[in-house]
Amino acid sequence: MTEIALAVREMTKRFGGLVATDNVSFDVPVGSVTALIGPNGAGKTTLFNLITNVYRTDRGEVRFGEVSLGAMQPARIAALGLVRTFQAARVFPGMTTLENVLAGAHLTLRSHPLRQMLWLKGARQEERVLIAKGEAMLELFGLRAFRDVAATDLPMGAQKLLDVIRALMARPRMLLLDEPAAGLNDSETAELGAALRAIRDSGITVMVVEHNMSLVMGVADQVLVLDAGRLVASGTPDEIRQNTEVIQAYIGQDTESGPC
Ligand SMILES: Nc1ncnc2c1ncn2[C@@H]1O[C@H](COP(=O)(O)OP(=O)(O)OP(=O)(O)O)[C@@H](O)[C@H]1O
Ligand SMILES: [Mg+2]
Repeated sequence: MTEIALAVREMTKRFGGLVATDNVSFDVPVGSVTALIGPNGAGKTTLFNLITNVYRTDRGEVRFGEVSLGAMQPARIAALGLVRTFQAARVFPGMTTLENVLAGAHLTLRSHPLRQMLWLKGARQEERVLIAKGEAMLELFGLRAFRDVAATDLPMGAQKLLDVIRALMARPRMLLLDEPAAGLNDSETAELGAALRAIRDSGITVMVVEHNMSLVMGVADQVLVLDAGRLVASGTPDEIRQNTEVIQAYIGQDTESGPC
């Protein structure tokens, strides 16, 4: 039986008269890449905000492994290993690219008093290990040349990738990525695709909201299609490609780069 990393059940959220997510249920298998696609305003980001309790749900339940996330604080959810990025890149100003990367690891350390004590004791050794890990991540995402550049000076695409790296430094069991390829050029997108496969192969489960169809179809094991808050299709990339309703409504003729 497939082990489930994330189980979402009957997730429903209204904003006034608008039903942003409508009775949405799905499973994300451990070690998979699940892509969440759908037109603007479909409810994709809202779903991430519900999963991580940034928004309070009106109805429904989320389980991360064996744990029901219920009313758990977002920081506690991250500490459990469910780590997200946001649709707009968020870099720390006044810090270099590498310092931004290291901040991802430090944030997790700070959230654990015991780990923080260990951190203070073995600080130098641990810092060296983290720097090496951070540099390896920058290499993996093609950002090594930006190591000592102020993060706010990076091109927008690089800032988006930096977000993903920072999330990875928190040592997640599962990553939720909200449009990581937005603003990326073709070679950065290819770099991201390869990195996502490497992340998956390292055992981290990934759920990614993405409009770039070539990226989605290239990396996803499972694709979920959301429209007006409802889950209208789910399946492998091949199944979704052949789903006429999905093709007509979201993908169009140009499956290489068209918006979904
Ligand atoms: N905090 C909020 N208050 C009111 N309405 C909201 C709020 N957040 C989202 N919505 C509405 O809920 C719907 C779903 O928005 P959401 O941001 O989840 O869409 P999305 O699928 O992520 O779209 P995009 O592809 O443009 O990022 C939209 O109609 C949006 O205006
Ligand atoms: Mg969104």
